[in-house]
Amino acid sequence: LGGAVGKGPLAGKHVLITSGPTHEAIDPVRYIANRSSGKQGHAIAAAAAAAGARVTLVSGPVGVADPAGVAVVKVQSAREMVAAVEKALPADIAIFAAAVADWRVDNEGGQKIKKKGGKPPSLTFVENPDILATIAQRKAKRPKLVIGFAAETEKVIEHAQAKLARKGCDFIVANDVSPTGGAMGGDTNRVHLVSAKGVETWPSQSKSDVARQLVARAGEMLAKK
Ligand code: CTP
Ligand code: CA
Repeated sequence: LGGAVGKGPLAGKHVLITSGPTHEAIDPVRYIANRSSGKQGHAIAAAAAAAGARVTLVSGPVGVADPAGVAVVKVQSAREMVAAVEKALPADIAIFAAAVADWRVDNEGGQKIKKKGGKPPSLTFVENPDILATIAQRKAKRPKLVIGFAAETEKVIEHAQAKLARKGCDFIVANDVSPTGGAMGGDTNRVHLVSAKGVETWPSQSKSDVARQLVARAGEMLAKK
């Protein structure tokens, strides 16, 4: 692990982060997924490591490099992600930045689906486990601070407040992922920090600045708990 461990505001703390999309297999060669670069989640992991924390990053398939000084657990599907997250507990802080696929294909084929007779296959879906809600609502080993993200294309604050209540986390970092928002795949992000206490809107800044600010804030919140 990196040299920062043992020093810094999060020394001695374990920070668990999810990042990237999940891939849900349709058959051995096809999948469904969310759009997610992993940039924001990976930047948070790097910032937490720089703040001296021991960091576990549970990541779906991404093109970005593993952050230095971080234990990276690589997964494909939502079910693998929730299992890896549970296995990484206990943690002091958990930050769920992954864009988890809400549904997986119910009738995943063992063989490649072939085109036949011009009739496209029909897929049926089942809902994936909600990792954030599962961890936030745990009785045993609930991290002291549980932070979720909310990717929204409209009514950003309203939807984030509903998610905060529904999932039982301490904070939601809400971001506008509408095509004009620039967050999706880009290097900047404008986020709103939504808690029971109210809403704080941060200026548009680089994803690494969002990450540093979020980690600093999480450290302060943890100290107050
Ligand atoms: N999340 C999760 N597991 C899921 C779905 C979402 O852990 N199966 C987490 C995300 O990592 C994020 C938060 O929940 O921290 C909100 O994700 P989002 O997709 O915005 O919310 P959903 O509850 O899935 O609602 P919807 O997609 O319908 O807006
Ligand atoms: Ca979702």
